[in-house]
Amino acid sequence: NKVVLAYSGGLDTSVIVPWLRENYGCEVVCFTADVGQGAIEMEGLEKKAKASGASQLVVKDLKEEFVSEYIYPCLRAGAVYERKYLLGTSMARPVIAKAMVDVAKEVGADAVAHGCTGKGNDQVRFELTFYALNPELKVVAPWREWDITGREDAIEYAKKHDVPVPVSKKSIYSRDRNLWHLSHEGDILEDPANEPKEDMYMMSVAPENAPSKPEYLEIGIIAGVPVSINGRDLSPASLLAKLNEIGGKHGIGRIDMVENRLVGMKSRGVYETPGGTIMAAAVRELEALTLDRETMQWKDIIALKYAELVYAGRWFDPLRQSFDAFTEKITATTTGSVTLKLYKGSVNIASRKSPHSLYREDISSFENGEIYNQADAEGFIRLYGLPTRVRAMLEKGI
Ligand code: ARG
Ligand code: SIN
Repeated sequence: NKVVLAYSGGLDTSVIVPWLRENYGCEVVCFTADVGQGAIEMEGLEKKAKASGASQLVVKDLKEEFVSEYIYPCLRAGAVYERKYLLGTSMARPVIAKAMVDVAKEVGADAVAHGCTGKGNDQVRFELTFYALNPELKVVAPWREWDITGREDAIEYAKKHDVPVPVSKKSIYSRDRNLWHLSHEGDILEDPANEPKEDMYMMSVAPENAPSKPEYLEIGIIAGVPVSINGRDLSPASLLAKLNEIGGKHGIGRIDMVENRLVGMKSRGVYETPGGTIMAAAVRELEALTLDRETMQWKDIIALKYAELVYAGRWFDPLRQSFDAFTEKITATTTGSVTLKLYKGSVNIASRKSPHSLYREDISSFENGEIYNQADAEGFIRLYGLPTRVRAMLEKGI
């Protein structure tokens, strides 16, 4: 028997390799997805995996798939969890877990394993994806089984099993990085009263240190998702990378929040989502032109539930897929361009244009127009306000 392990090259997953071999007597195939976590994290992985006792390392570049098939649907849906979280980690788990199911098939493995703790959301996201795509796979979650309790323990276990301890200096924070975001949890952040230290941030400068000259940015949008920057077409992954660079420079997209994890506890996290924050603002501004009142309202209602499903790992639920069908239909006309003005951490709207705009100057203008007759308003208000008048008449005994 064979197991496919979600492998990062860090201390935890390095220890999981010998642990799986010892406790399950199985061959371990390591799998690393490139979702944009950065070149440093991808370096020397094969050598490391083999030194830990893996039979092979499979690497897949999922960056474009991640952005176009996971990030863009969420962006189009306007999904935001608990008012702030742009779901960076939540969206990455199903794309990684789906690839693991494929790799398991390719190498003939009957089990999959991950290094998530038993206290978090990520375990749920991985395992619900495994269930949805191949319910026959056995799932191993070492953190819920072993008695390794901390870093020192893990190092000792590694030494006992002749596994080289990863040399990279372990950061004090628990971090997760991909093309969309970087999350920070743990250490001083565990007290919600503590302000994050400036040296923690990796994708963005502090707004107060951002350039004092604003930068204008024109984002081209087709059917609810960005396609170009300043008139230049870019692939989804390169567009996002570019916006991360620009947004980070202007101190955009820092989010500090206390959130409710699926397993019930509250946790404090800090996120950097520079490019995503710009994208979300641009799409929202264009929708103000292209969606009518009730459609926008329903879209917002669905966005709330959509975000909850994504956060909870239910990416492959028919409910989320149906929401996609709804969103795709109503954003088919969300096409045009938005010019934003970036300045010291803020994203401001400068201009919006769409060939499908429902805004008509000949109707809305303060200058008198032909289509809208002000005299019609009198009858409209009389009927619209009928229930209001009836209640007031009752209260006053009229
Ligand atoms: N709290 C966020 C979420 O649940 C971030 C989790 C970060 N995960 C990690 N393995 N460090 O989506
Ligand atoms: C973990 O516990 O593995 C990371 C945090 C989370 O999944 O929420």
